[in-house]
Amino acid sequence: MINDRELEVLINEVFEYHGFDFSGYSRASLKRRIERLYQIDGFKSLGEMLSKIRTEPEYFKHLIEEVTVNVTEMFRDPLFYKTLREEILPILATKPFIRLWHAGCSSGEEVYSMAIMLREANLLHKSLIYATDINQQVLDSAKKGIFPLQTMKQYSENYRLSGGKKDFSDYYTANYGFAKFSSDLSEKMVFSEHSLVSDGSFNEFDLILCRNVLIYFDKELQERAFELFDNSLSKLGYLALGTKETLKFSLLGKRYKQLNKEKIWKKME
Ligand SMILES: C[S@@+](CC[C@H](N)C(=O)[O-])C[C@H]1O[C@@H](n2cnc3c(N)ncnc32)[C@H](O)[C@@H]1O
Repeated sequence: MINDRELEVLINEVFEYHGFDFSGYSRASLKRRIERLYQIDGFKSLGEMLSKIRTEPEYFKHLIEEVTVNVTEMFRDPLFYKTLREEILPILATKPFIRLWHAGCSSGEEVYSMAIMLREANLLHKSLIYATDINQQVLDSAKKGIFPLQTMKQYSENYRLSGGKKDFSDYYTANYGFAKFSSDLSEKMVFSEHSLVSDGSFNEFDLILCRNVLIYFDKELQERAFELFDNSLSKLGYLALGTKETLKFSLLGKRYKQLNKEKIWKKME
């Protein structure tokens, strides 16, 4: 097994050889996932693992895929989506053009959920949805808009609880155990690699969603991400976080107003 000192050595080497900085990630989850990989891949020593990480780019890609947690869902936390649908979209509707950013979008389920809501509010035609992640593999999958058919029952129920009134199956075509979402929905999506650790702001947004990503970061890295979002949000723009995440303890918190009990903040200054 890997001890704490060895974990730090691995983090330093990954940064030195590949420029990926995991030093601001919470250690407990990082350690669990690296240990799992160490076991599955049958390494006998940390040195052996490090050598593979240093010299085999494909193995490093595999490490990134295993270390990042990519669990996601369509209309995850339906009441959050209901609030977006009923309280935020009507405000964004008054704008001539709407820019959204899903930071840490994983395989795109939340991006397609947003496109469906924008379509139903008749706003998709004037929206642009940027969706970013550090894991290229999940981005490739997101671009295809293809999800396992067996998840559709749960997603359809989430959609209904979020206030969706249509037949959810109208949005996709089922084929060989997969659901392919309509390309009308993805026309306004731009998927791209972007790291919240090392990359900067690239546009100004009316709504930024970064849900279930900051829980894997330590306080300092969370603060960096909040600054990045602050620099990327328009005046009176909205920031949406996951259920276990908050802006409350951030230095920027006092410049934002939290809406209801949902994890949505409005930039006030
Ligand atoms: C648990 S998923 C959350 C997906 C989606 N936002 C949701 O709530 O369902 C976390 C995502 O954050 C991404 N991630 C981790 N570190 C990141 C970083 N430094 N910059 C951008 N994305 C990151 C992971 O690759 C993963 O896809």
